[in-house]
Amino acid sequence: MNVLMLSPGYPAEMPEFTRGLAEVGATVVGVGDQPLEALPERARRSLAAYVRVRSLFDEAAAVAEVRRELAGRRIDRVESLWEPLMLLAARLREALGVPGLDVAATVPFRDKEAMKLRLDAAGIRTPRHVAAASVAACWEAAERIGFPVILKPIAGAGSADTWRCDDADDLRAVLPRVAHVPVVSVEEFVDGEEYTFDTVTIAGSVAYYNVAWYRPRPLIARTHEWISPQVIALRDPDAAPLAGGVAMGHAVIRALGFETGFTHMEWYRKADGEVVFGEIGARPPGAHQVDQMNYACDFDVFREWARAVTAGRFDARIERRYNVATVFKRAQGEGTIRAIEGLEALYRRWGEAIAWNHLLPVGARRRNWKQTLVSDGFLLARHPDLATTLAIADEIGERVRLHAR
Ligand SMILES: Nc1ncnc2c1ncn2[C@@H]1O[C@H](COP(=O)(O)OP(=O)(O)OP(=O)(O)O)[C@@H](O)[C@H]1O
Ligand SMILES: [Mg+2]
Repeated sequence: MNVLMLSPGYPAEMPEFTRGLAEVGATVVGVGDQPLEALPERARRSLAAYVRVRSLFDEAAAVAEVRRELAGRRIDRVESLWEPLMLLAARLREALGVPGLDVAATVPFRDKEAMKLRLDAAGIRTPRHVAAASVAACWEAAERIGFPVILKPIAGAGSADTWRCDDADDLRAVLPRVAHVPVVSVEEFVDGEEYTFDTVTIAGSVAYYNVAWYRPRPLIARTHEWISPQVIALRDPDAAPLAGGVAMGHAVIRALGFETGFTHMEWYRKADGEVVFGEIGARPPGAHQVDQMNYACDFDVFREWARAVTAGRFDARIERRYNVATVFKRAQGEGTIRAIEGLEALYRRWGEAIAWNHLLPVGARRRNWKQTLVSDGFLLARHPDLATTLAIADEIGERVRLHAR
């Protein structure tokens, strides 16, 4: 099987998916805009060939370059697991006559208004929403929906340009900040807990799923630097309080006609128990949430995804052993990390449970916490008991401190 893998070297998880494809026996042709030598070793050694295009973001040119380089070679699958390349993947499928999501089927995964319209038609509970292309339209939408509202780009990612407005004063202050966004989605603000529903789906049926809990909600975590955001992959995704979200997830996959690959959905549960759809991507979650799945089940979901897309099978046994907490840290102060406080005590108490220390080391420059989900790195802990997992996560949040100067 010949698989075209877009951007095999970036972001961080892509070399692992590329490795997975090679391990299940696919002939992997990478497509990227980096020089081959710049790819991580793991990606490079999994590739049978590499097509370097000038830019992955000039879709028409990239499609033409790939066609020329392939010179008639047969391609069976085009895979992309990175949101900004979903449409390029669809265009390549159309140009090369490859099955999978075409452009029309991809749009509802990329355009948040088209997504919600499709789901509304299928009877799925989305936040009340209106697409607005002008300041006047935003005011009208807010009036129709009622405060508080959320404003966000219809093709957003990473919570960029997502704003909560509690009243007219907030809206007045936010409007100039979204002036560069051509169309915004104005939504009912849904108050509640926020979860994911992630799947590996084969021919429309879910072969594996994962539910993660965001503590606190991403919009809050993204607003306050002092917060250490947590993502908790839950050992028991079949627990009763999650059932509504899991059922909704299955319904969403059906409604959008998704066939084979990774999906990543976000959903909300209100205090009264009502579940509301958030968004879905035809790709895995980022920020090492795929690694969390592996730590939860001690399997290799990168390889099983590859088996799913190449052979239509998910062979690994799904044995949910652990809850997995990833806790992202943001250093105090600016500049260079000078000290990490509290690690020794943490390891003394919970050493067995700490599976991965991926904090930036002393001497490294701080990252821009607004621009990266991963912040200044993370600690990953796992434990069979959820309450214990949360206690460890909170201890990492409160007691592990990075100091920068
Ligand atoms: N209607 C809503 N009600 C309440 N909170 C919302 C709503 N829409 C978005 N949010 C908050 O804003 C965050 C970002 O929104 P959304 O997931 O739609 O955007 P995104 O840019 O795709 O984000 P990401 O790529 O980080 O998932 C959500 O995780 C949630 O915390
Ligand atoms: Mg989101």
